[in-house]
Amino acid sequence: MSIINELTSHHTTLRQLYAQAEKDPKFFEDFSRHLVVHHTMEEKYFYDILQAYPEVEHDALEAVNEHHIIELIIKDAEGFPHDHDHFPIKIEGLGEYTTHHLDEEEMEIFPMSQNVIPADDLETLGKLFVEAKNKILGIKLPELPGAIATAIAKPAAPTKTTAGVISRSTAHGLGIGGLKH
Ligand SMILES: [Fe+2]
Ligand SMILES: [Fe+2]
Repeated sequence: MSIINELTSHHTTLRQLYAQAEKDPKFFEDFSRHLVVHHTMEEKYFYDILQAYPEVEHDALEAVNEHHIIELIIKDAEGFPHDHDHFPIKIEGLGEYTTHHLDEEEMEIFPMSQNVIPADDLETLGKLFVEAKNKILGIKLPELPGAIATAIAKPAAPTKTTAGVISRSTAHGLGIGGLKH
């Protein structure tokens, strides 16, 4: 199947995961994990190729920059206490920006790309995208052994940040995050 169809199909999954996360914040991790994988694979098997065509280069770069902004929104949400009453607002912010990005790809970028990337290449890229996406999303990281898991599970004493907000850990919200779960 063409990469355009494969990407659009994964967009449907992303929209469903957002709808689930909007109802229940525990689905945030699933939503953000799929998003990070989607962006990584979409850049490798679609935008890197699209950027080579001067007539669409600007649009491709703009879309990739939107991925960067979405990653920043994910990092911000990851650093926000997930049990806080306002966490759903963080999920909504991420979901709304993401939905806007997906709409723009489906309505503008994908049709544009079909005019420049040869059909055979779109098919080949589609196969590679699916293979890579399934491999990455299928990976289950080994669990930590009991003693280490128990040691890190102990909640740190709350500390006050410079903004006066109570935070459980200064390390909260740092790191790659999206691919850890
Ligand atoms: Fe995208
Ligand atoms: Fe996409």
